[in-house]
Amino acid sequence: MKLYTLITGASTGFGKSLAIECANQGMNLIIVALPNSGLIELGEFLKSNFNIKVMVFEMDLSSKKNCNLLYDEVKKRGASVKHLINNAGVLSRGYFEDLPEDYVVTQINVNVATPTLLTKLFLEDFKANAPSGILNVSSMASFFHLPKKQVYSGTKAYLLSFSKSLRKEIKKYGIWVSIVCPGGMNTTTALCLQNRRLGWLSRTSILDPEVAAKETLKKFFSKKEVIIPGAVNKIFMFLDSVIPTAIKNKLTANAV
Ligand SMILES: NC(=O)c1ccc[n+]([C@@H]2O[C@H](COP(=O)([O-])OP(=O)(O)OC[C@H]3O[C@@H](n4cnc5c(N)ncnc54)[C@H](OP(=O)(O)O)[C@@H]3O)[C@@H](O)[C@H]2O)c1
Repeated sequence: MKLYTLITGASTGFGKSLAIECANQGMNLIIVALPNSGLIELGEFLKSNFNIKVMVFEMDLSSKKNCNLLYDEVKKRGASVKHLINNAGVLSRGYFEDLPEDYVVTQINVNVATPTLLTKLFLEDFKANAPSGILNVSSMASFFHLPKKQVYSGTKAYLLSFSKSLRKEIKKYGIWVSIVCPGGMNTTTALCLQNRRLGWLSRTSILDPEVAAKETLKKFFSKKEVIIPGAVNKIFMFLDSVIPTAIKNKLTANAV
């Protein structure tokens, strides 16, 4: 039976960079994203440029039904998952009072329920294929409490907590769980524009997704628990651990 790495949200941004890097390392891939996102073209590109098998699933993973459907389709095609990368995510958009209800619910579903459920569905695969690994894509926002990132940061903090607990629980099966907490990356057009307007220090912390993906996968395969890509971001995390909370709250009160 062929073994695969399953990557959600692989059509663009960080997920696409992770997919290309995994392909470059010779892994067979199952890639998933919303319909009409260029995923089929990416699948063709990966198949023709790397000597790997690729399965492409265009589906909305915000529902439990579709997560189950994905699992059933993967099994129907006789594939087994060795590594899962829960990357699909709905990014932050603005002030809580302005967020549409449906947006908030979808954000919680995609960022929290979907990675949790996919981990559960494929658990027997990970056991059978051990040593095997799960990489959950959280964010540096999981450590900070910022305006305009309320629901987003909350969902990412869940992933951090969930991953750390689960890592202890399933180590006995030869399965490791890593969490990557990227800082800013130049992925979507909106983020690229937003990142250009940042002050000098913050701008130096922004990574291209290809660079973040390379560092992330290297550390994931060394089974590191929490991965913070980029030197400047590691310095930010160190400062966070030494600066008193009252000062941090002042610094972040109006951050956008
Ligand atoms: N960019 C940053 O600065 C940054 C920083 C820290 C953490 N992160 C995290 O990194 C991950 C990727 O972020 P990104 O910036 O690369 O975002 P992105 O460019 O918006 O990509 C998100 C991916 O998730 C997919 N997706 C979203 N909703 C989905 C759904 N309902 N069903 C299936 N797939 C869905 C998207 O598919 P479509 O293309 O079809 O929409 C896309 O492939 C996210 O988890 C994000 O929270 C990003």
